[in-house]
Amino acid sequence: MAQLKVGYPAALPAELVQLLPAEAELIPIPSNPQDEIVIDFWIPPPAATLGQKIWPHLRGVKVAQSMMAGTEWLTDLVGPSVTVCNAQGAHSISTAEWTLAAILATLKYLPLYRDLQHKSEWCSRAKGSAVYAAIHNDQRPQFPPFMQEELHDKHVLIVGYGDIGKTIERMLTPFGVEITRVARTARALSSTSPEVHPVAALDSLLPSAEIIILILPHTPESHGLIGARQLALMPQGALLVNSARGPIVQTDALVAALNAGHIRAAVDVTDPEPLPPDHPLWKCPNLLITPHVAGSTPQFSPRATKIAADQVRRLLKGEPLINIVQQAIN
Ligand SMILES: NC(=O)c1ccc[n+]([C@@H]2O[C@H](COP(=O)([O-])OP(=O)(O)OC[C@H]3O[C@@H](n4cnc5c(N)ncnc54)[C@H](OP(=O)(O)O)[C@@H]3O)[C@@H](O)[C@H]2O)c1
Repeated sequence: MAQLKVGYPAALPAELVQLLPAEAELIPIPSNPQDEIVIDFWIPPPAATLGQKIWPHLRGVKVAQSMMAGTEWLTDLVGPSVTVCNAQGAHSISTAEWTLAAILATLKYLPLYRDLQHKSEWCSRAKGSAVYAAIHNDQRPQFPPFMQEELHDKHVLIVGYGDIGKTIERMLTPFGVEITRVARTARALSSTSPEVHPVAALDSLLPSAEIIILILPHTPESHGLIGARQLALMPQGALLVNSARGPIVQTDALVAALNAGHIRAAVDVTDPEPLPPDHPLWKCPNLLITPHVAGSTPQFSPRATKIAADQVRRLLKGEPLINIVQQAIN
Protein backbone atom coordinates (compact mmCIF):
# COMPACT_ATOMS: atom_id res chain seq x y z
CA MET A 1 0.00 0.00 0.00
CA ALA A 2 1.30 3.49 -0.88
CA GLN A 3 2.51 5.59 2.02
CA LEU A 4 -0.13 7.89 3.49
CA LYS A 5 0.66 11.49 2.50
CA VAL A 6 -0.13 13.99 5.26
CA GLY A 7 -0.04 17.73 4.48
CA TYR A 8 0.43 20.06 7.43
CA PRO A 9 0.91 23.86 7.68
CA ALA A 10 4.57 24.67 6.99
CA ALA A 11 4.36 27.20 9.84
CA LEU A 12 3.72 24.43 12.39
CA PRO A 13 6.64 24.54 14.87
CA ALA A 14 9.11 21.62 14.64
CA GLU A 15 8.23 20.31 18.13
CA LEU A 16 4.61 19.95 17.01
CA VAL A 17 5.51 18.32 13.68
CA GLN A 18 7.32 15.66 15.76
CA LEU A 19 3.96 14.67 17.24
CA LEU A 20 2.78 13.46 13.80
CA PRO A 21 3.45 9.73 13.10
CA ALA A 22 6.74 9.24 11.22
CA GLU A 23 5.24 6.21 9.36
CA ALA A 24 3.30 8.70 7.21
CA GLU A 25 4.93 10.87 4.54
CA LEU A 26 4.80 14.32 6.13
CA ILE A 27 4.54 17.16 3.62
CA PRO A 28 4.76 20.82 4.77
CA ILE A 29 2.23 22.95 2.86
CA PRO A 30 3.36 26.58 2.41
CA SER A 31 0.78 29.35 2.86
CA ASN A 32 1.23 30.37 -0.81
CA PRO A 33 1.85 27.17 -2.81
CA GLN A 34 2.94 27.70 -6.40
CA ASP A 35 2.49 24.14 -7.71
CA GLU A 36 0.07 21.25 -7.26
CA ILE A 37 0.61 19.19 -4.09
CA VAL A 38 -0.75 15.62 -3.85
CA ILE A 39 -1.77 14.55 -0.34
CA ASP A 40 -4.33 12.16 1.21
CA PHE A 41 -4.83 13.85 4.57
CA TRP A 42 -4.86 17.64 4.99
CA ILE A 43 -4.36 19.53 8.23
CA PRO A 44 -5.39 23.04 7.11
CA PRO A 45 -4.13 26.19 8.82
CA PRO A 46 -6.59 27.50 11.45
CA ALA A 47 -7.34 30.70 9.45
CA ALA A 48 -10.00 30.26 6.75
CA THR A 49 -8.41 32.87 4.46
CA LEU A 50 -5.12 30.92 4.33
CA GLY A 51 -6.90 27.59 3.82
CA GLN A 52 -8.90 29.09 0.95
CA LYS A 53 -5.65 30.18 -0.77
CA ILE A 54 -4.08 26.73 -0.38
CA TRP A 55 -7.02 24.50 -1.35
CA PRO A 56 -6.94 25.13 -5.17
CA HIS A 57 -3.36 23.73 -5.23
CA LEU A 58 -4.18 20.48 -3.43
CA ARG A 59 -4.92 17.21 -5.21
CA GLY A 60 -6.09 13.84 -3.88
CA VAL A 61 -7.33 15.01 -0.47
CA LYS A 62 -9.62 12.40 1.11
CA VAL A 63 -9.67 13.73 4.67
CA ALA A 64 -9.47 17.31 5.97
CA GLN A 65 -8.71 17.37 9.69
CA SER A 66 -9.42 20.80 11.17
CA MET A 67 -7.39 22.02 14.16
CA MET A 68 -10.51 23.87 15.34
CA ALA A 69 -13.90 22.86 16.83
CA GLY A 70 -15.90 24.88 14.27
CA THR A 71 -15.51 23.64 10.66
CA GLU A 72 -18.12 25.72 8.80
CA TRP A 73 -15.68 27.26 6.30
CA LEU A 74 -13.82 24.00 5.72
CA THR A 75 -16.85 21.90 4.70
CA ASP A 76 -17.92 24.72 2.34
CA LEU A 77 -14.42 24.84 0.84
CA VAL A 78 -13.65 21.17 0.23
CA GLY A 79 -17.10 20.06 -0.89
CA PRO A 80 -18.88 16.74 -0.31
CA SER A 81 -16.19 14.38 -1.68
CA VAL A 82 -13.84 14.98 1.29
CA THR A 83 -14.37 13.66 4.83
CA VAL A 84 -14.11 16.56 7.29
CA CYS A 85 -13.19 16.05 10.95
CA ASN A 86 -13.05 18.62 13.71
CA ALA A 87 -10.73 18.94 16.71
CA GLN A 88 -13.42 18.42 19.31
CA GLY A 89 -11.82 18.82 22.74
CA ALA A 90 -8.90 21.03 21.68
CA HIS A 91 -10.68 24.19 22.83
CA SER A 92 -12.75 22.80 25.67
CA ILE A 93 -10.64 23.81 28.68
CA SER A 94 -9.76 27.28 27.37
CA THR A 95 -13.32 28.10 26.26
CA ALA A 96 -14.85 26.77 29.48
CA GLU A 97 -12.36 28.79 31.55
CA TRP A 98 -13.23 31.94 29.55
CA THR A 99 -16.92 31.29 30.24
CA LEU A 100 -16.29 30.97 33.99
CA ALA A 101 -14.07 34.08 33.94
CA ALA A 102 -16.72 36.11 32.07
CA ILE A 103 -19.45 35.05 34.52
CA LEU A 104 -17.35 35.83 37.60
CA ALA A 105 -16.05 39.12 36.13
CA THR A 106 -19.63 40.26 35.51
CA LEU A 107 -20.99 39.17 38.90
CA LYS A 108 -18.00 40.70 40.69
CA TYR A 109 -18.38 43.95 38.65
CA LEU A 110 -14.74 43.76 37.50
CA PRO A 111 -15.37 45.85 34.33
CA LEU A 112 -16.86 48.63 36.55
CA TYR A 113 -13.92 48.54 38.97
CA ARG A 114 -11.37 48.45 36.13
CA ASP A 115 -13.02 51.54 34.58
CA LEU A 116 -12.84 53.29 37.97
CA GLN A 117 -9.19 52.24 38.39
CA HIS A 118 -8.38 54.03 35.13
CA LYS A 119 -9.93 57.17 36.66
CA SER A 120 -7.96 56.64 39.93
CA GLU A 121 -11.32 56.44 41.67
CA TRP A 122 -11.85 54.39 44.86
CA CYS A 123 -15.44 53.20 44.51
CA SER A 124 -17.82 53.85 47.34
CA ARG A 125 -20.34 51.18 48.30
CA ALA A 126 -23.06 53.38 46.83
CA LYS A 127 -21.65 52.96 43.31
CA GLY A 128 -21.71 49.13 43.29
CA SER A 129 -25.07 49.21 44.98
CA ALA A 130 -26.51 51.53 42.33
CA VAL A 131 -25.39 49.12 39.59
CA TYR A 132 -27.09 46.25 41.44
CA ALA A 133 -30.31 48.19 42.00
CA ALA A 134 -30.49 49.30 38.35
CA ILE A 135 -29.85 45.94 36.67
CA HIS A 136 -32.12 44.03 39.04
CA ASN A 137 -34.73 46.79 39.15
CA ASP A 138 -34.62 46.38 42.93
CA GLN A 139 -35.00 49.70 44.75
CA ARG A 140 -35.46 48.19 48.24
CA PRO A 141 -33.21 49.67 50.94
CA GLN A 142 -29.94 47.73 51.26
CA PHE A 143 -28.10 47.21 54.51
CA PRO A 144 -25.18 47.52 54.05
CA PRO A 145 -25.11 48.44 50.32
CA PHE A 146 -23.82 45.68 48.01
CA MET A 147 -20.59 45.96 46.03
CA GLN A 148 -20.94 42.78 43.92
CA GLU A 149 -22.95 39.55 43.53
CA GLU A 150 -22.46 35.82 44.16
CA LEU A 151 -22.42 32.93 41.70
CA HIS A 152 -23.38 30.51 44.45
CA ASP A 153 -27.04 29.35 44.21
CA LYS A 154 -27.57 30.87 40.76
CA HIS A 155 -29.66 28.97 38.20
CA VAL A 156 -27.53 28.41 35.09
CA LEU A 157 -28.89 27.28 31.71
CA ILE A 158 -26.26 25.69 29.44
CA VAL A 159 -27.44 25.71 25.80
CA GLY A 160 -25.27 23.18 23.93
CA TYR A 161 -24.22 20.15 25.93
CA GLY A 162 -21.24 18.87 23.96
CA ASP A 163 -17.60 18.68 24.95
CA ILE A 164 -17.34 22.34 25.99
CA GLY A 165 -20.79 22.48 27.63
CA LYS A 166 -19.88 19.47 29.78
CA THR A 167 -16.51 21.02 30.67
CA ILE A 168 -18.29 24.23 31.72
CA GLU A 169 -20.65 22.18 33.91
CA ARG A 170 -17.70 20.39 35.56
CA MET A 171 -16.02 23.75 36.32
CA LEU A 172 -19.27 25.38 37.54
CA THR A 173 -20.33 22.54 39.84
CA PRO A 174 -18.06 23.45 42.81
CA PHE A 175 -19.73 26.88 42.95
CA GLY A 176 -22.98 25.32 44.14
CA VAL A 177 -25.14 26.37 41.20
CA GLU A 178 -28.31 24.77 39.85
CA ILE A 179 -27.71 23.65 36.25
CA THR A 180 -30.22 22.98 33.45
CA ARG A 181 -28.96 21.59 30.14
CA VAL A 182 -30.25 22.03 26.60
CA ALA A 183 -29.05 20.29 23.43
CA ARG A 184 -30.40 19.48 19.97
CA THR A 185 -31.83 16.20 21.21
CA ALA A 186 -33.34 15.41 24.63
CA ARG A 187 -31.78 12.83 26.94
CA ALA A 188 -33.62 11.33 29.92
CA LEU A 189 -31.94 11.25 33.32
CA SER A 190 -29.92 8.01 33.75
CA SER A 191 -27.48 6.58 36.29
CA THR A 192 -24.55 7.89 34.20
CA SER A 193 -25.84 11.16 32.75
CA PRO A 194 -28.10 14.07 33.70
CA GLU A 195 -31.34 15.13 32.04
CA VAL A 196 -30.86 17.18 28.87
CA HIS A 197 -33.79 19.19 27.48
CA PRO A 198 -34.46 19.57 23.74
CA VAL A 199 -33.89 22.98 22.17
CA ALA A 200 -37.65 23.10 21.49
CA ALA A 201 -38.09 23.60 25.27
CA LEU A 202 -35.80 26.65 25.35
CA ASP A 203 -38.52 29.30 25.63
CA SER A 204 -40.08 27.56 28.63
CA LEU A 205 -36.70 27.31 30.41
CA LEU A 206 -35.56 30.92 29.93
CA PRO A 207 -37.81 32.65 32.52
CA SER A 208 -36.14 30.86 35.44
CA ALA A 209 -32.52 31.12 34.20
CA GLU A 210 -30.31 33.73 35.84
CA ILE A 211 -27.29 32.90 33.67
CA ILE A 212 -27.70 31.61 30.09
CA ILE A 213 -24.60 30.16 28.43
CA LEU A 214 -24.58 29.63 24.64
CA ILE A 215 -22.07 26.94 23.64
CA LEU A 216 -23.50 25.26 20.54
CA PRO A 217 -22.39 25.28 16.89
CA HIS A 218 -23.62 27.89 14.42
CA THR A 219 -25.84 25.97 11.99
CA PRO A 220 -28.94 26.90 9.94
CA GLU A 221 -31.01 25.66 12.94
CA SER A 222 -29.14 27.73 15.57
CA HIS A 223 -28.85 30.89 13.41
CA GLY A 224 -30.65 33.70 15.28
CA LEU A 225 -31.80 31.27 18.01
CA ILE A 226 -31.76 34.09 20.56
CA GLY A 227 -33.95 36.94 19.34
CA ALA A 228 -36.20 39.58 20.88
CA ARG A 229 -38.70 37.00 22.20
CA GLN A 230 -36.05 34.88 23.94
CA LEU A 231 -34.34 37.96 25.42
CA ALA A 232 -37.70 39.22 26.73
CA LEU A 233 -38.33 35.83 28.36
CA MET A 234 -35.09 36.12 30.37
CA PRO A 235 -35.63 37.52 33.86
CA GLN A 236 -34.66 41.11 34.67
CA GLY A 237 -30.87 41.25 35.21
CA ALA A 238 -30.17 37.81 33.64
CA LEU A 239 -26.65 37.34 32.26
CA LEU A 240 -26.35 36.05 28.67
CA VAL A 241 -22.92 34.56 27.93
CA ASN A 242 -22.07 33.82 24.29
CA SER A 243 -18.88 31.80 23.94
CA ALA A 244 -20.16 30.01 20.80
CA ARG A 245 -20.71 32.03 17.61
CA GLY A 246 -22.04 35.58 17.09
CA PRO A 247 -24.90 34.85 14.64
CA ILE A 248 -26.63 32.56 17.18
CA VAL A 249 -27.82 35.82 18.77
CA GLN A 250 -29.73 38.45 16.77
CA THR A 251 -27.48 41.46 17.29
CA ASP A 252 -30.17 44.15 16.90
CA ALA A 253 -32.31 42.43 19.54
CA LEU A 254 -29.31 42.14 21.88
CA VAL A 255 -28.50 45.84 21.49
CA ALA A 256 -32.14 46.72 22.28
CA ALA A 257 -32.32 44.44 25.36
CA LEU A 258 -29.04 45.83 26.74
CA ASN A 259 -29.98 49.45 26.08
CA ALA A 260 -33.35 48.85 27.79
CA GLY A 261 -31.41 47.67 30.88
CA HIS A 262 -33.29 44.35 30.79
CA ILE A 263 -30.33 41.93 30.70
CA ARG A 264 -26.53 41.99 30.83
CA ALA A 265 -24.18 40.07 28.58
CA ALA A 266 -20.63 38.80 28.16
CA VAL A 267 -19.71 37.87 24.59
CA ASP A 268 -16.53 36.49 23.05
CA VAL A 269 -18.19 36.40 19.64
CA THR A 270 -20.28 38.94 17.76
CA ASP A 271 -22.17 39.33 14.51
CA PRO A 272 -20.48 40.88 12.59
CA GLU A 273 -16.89 39.98 13.36
CA PRO A 274 -14.73 41.94 13.66
CA LEU A 275 -17.11 44.41 15.24
CA PRO A 276 -16.74 47.73 13.33
CA PRO A 277 -15.60 50.70 15.50
CA ASP A 278 -18.93 52.52 15.05
CA HIS A 279 -21.12 49.50 15.89
CA PRO A 280 -23.80 50.25 18.56
CA LEU A 281 -22.87 47.12 20.53
CA TRP A 282 -19.62 48.78 21.71
CA LYS A 283 -21.61 51.41 23.62
CA CYS A 284 -24.19 49.13 25.25
CA PRO A 285 -24.38 49.14 29.06
CA ASN A 286 -23.75 46.02 31.16
CA LEU A 287 -21.80 44.32 28.38
CA LEU A 288 -18.35 42.71 28.36
CA ILE A 289 -16.84 42.05 24.90
CA THR A 290 -13.69 40.08 24.11
CA PRO A 291 -12.52 39.69 20.47
CA HIS A 292 -13.06 35.94 19.83
CA VAL A 293 -10.18 34.86 22.05
CA ALA A 294 -11.81 32.26 24.31
CA GLY A 295 -10.24 29.20 22.66
CA SER A 296 -6.78 30.67 22.11
CA THR A 297 -4.13 29.66 24.64
CA PRO A 298 -0.57 28.28 24.29
CA GLN A 299 -1.93 24.82 25.17
CA PHE A 300 -4.27 24.79 22.16
CA SER A 301 -1.83 23.93 19.30
CA PRO A 302 -0.19 20.90 21.00
CA ARG A 303 -3.68 19.58 21.90
CA ALA A 304 -5.02 20.10 18.34
CA THR A 305 -1.88 18.56 16.76
CA LYS A 306 -2.20 15.47 19.00
CA ILE A 307 -5.81 15.08 17.85
CA ALA A 308 -4.66 15.23 14.18
CA ALA A 309 -1.79 12.81 14.91
CA ASP A 310 -4.22 10.31 16.49
CA GLN A 311 -6.41 10.50 13.40
CA VAL A 312 -3.42 9.75 11.15
CA ARG A 313 -2.55 6.77 13.40
CA ARG A 314 -6.13 5.52 13.04
CA LEU A 315 -5.88 5.64 9.23
CA LEU A 316 -2.49 3.87 9.31
CA LYS A 317 -3.97 1.08 11.44
CA GLY A 318 -7.14 0.87 9.31
CA GLU A 319 -9.32 2.08 12.21
CA PRO A 320 -12.32 4.40 11.73
CA LEU A 321 -11.79 8.16 12.15
CA ILE A 322 -13.46 10.02 15.02
CA ASN A 323 -14.92 13.57 15.18
CA ILE A 324 -16.36 13.27 11.66
CA VAL A 325 -18.55 16.27 10.86
CA GLN A 326 -18.93 15.36 7.17
CA GLN A 327 -18.54 11.89 5.69
CA ALA A 328 -17.29 11.98 2.08
CA ILE A 329 -19.82 11.09 -0.60
CA ASN A 330 -17.93 9.25 -3.34
N1 LIG B 1 -15.34 31.32 21.40
C1 LIG B 1 -14.43 30.45 20.98
O1 LIG B 1 -13.26 30.76 20.84
C2 LIG B 1 -14.86 29.03 20.71
C3 LIG B 1 -13.92 28.01 20.85
C4 LIG B 1 -14.32 26.71 20.62
C5 LIG B 1 -15.62 26.42 20.23
N2 LIG B 1 -16.52 27.44 20.10
C6 LIG B 1 -17.92 27.13 19.69
O2 LIG B 1 -18.49 26.19 20.58
C7 LIG B 1 -19.26 25.26 19.85
C8 LIG B 1 -19.46 24.00 20.68
O3 LIG B 1 -18.24 23.29 20.78
P1 LIG B 1 -18.21 21.77 21.33
O4 LIG B 1 -16.81 21.28 21.14
O5 LIG B 1 -18.83 21.71 22.68
O6 LIG B 1 -19.18 21.05 20.28
P2 LIG B 1 -19.85 19.61 20.36
O7 LIG B 1 -19.10 18.72 21.29
O8 LIG B 1 -20.05 19.17 18.95
O9 LIG B 1 -21.29 19.88 21.05
C9 LIG B 1 -22.24 20.71 20.47
C10 LIG B 1 -23.48 20.70 21.33
O10 LIG B 1 -24.40 21.66 20.79
C11 LIG B 1 -25.66 21.02 20.64
N3 LIG B 1 -26.40 21.61 19.53
C12 LIG B 1 -26.14 21.53 18.20
N4 LIG B 1 -27.07 22.22 17.50
C13 LIG B 1 -27.93 22.70 18.40
C14 LIG B 1 -29.12 23.49 18.31
N5 LIG B 1 -29.59 23.90 17.13
N6 LIG B 1 -29.76 23.81 19.45
C15 LIG B 1 -29.30 23.40 20.66
N7 LIG B 1 -28.18 22.65 20.82
C16 LIG B 1 -27.51 22.32 19.70
C17 LIG B 1 -25.37 19.55 20.39
O11 LIG B 1 -26.54 18.80 20.68
P3 LIG B 1 -26.57 17.18 20.62
O12 LIG B 1 -25.71 16.75 21.80
O13 LIG B 1 -28.00 16.82 20.81
O14 LIG B 1 -25.99 16.83 19.31
C18 LIG B 1 -24.21 19.35 21.37
O15 LIG B 1 -24.71 19.10 22.66
C19 LIG B 1 -18.44 25.10 18.54
O16 LIG B 1 -19.24 24.59 17.49
C20 LIG B 1 -17.96 26.50 18.28
O17 LIG B 1 -18.91 27.20 17.50
C21 LIG B 1 -16.17 28.73 20.35
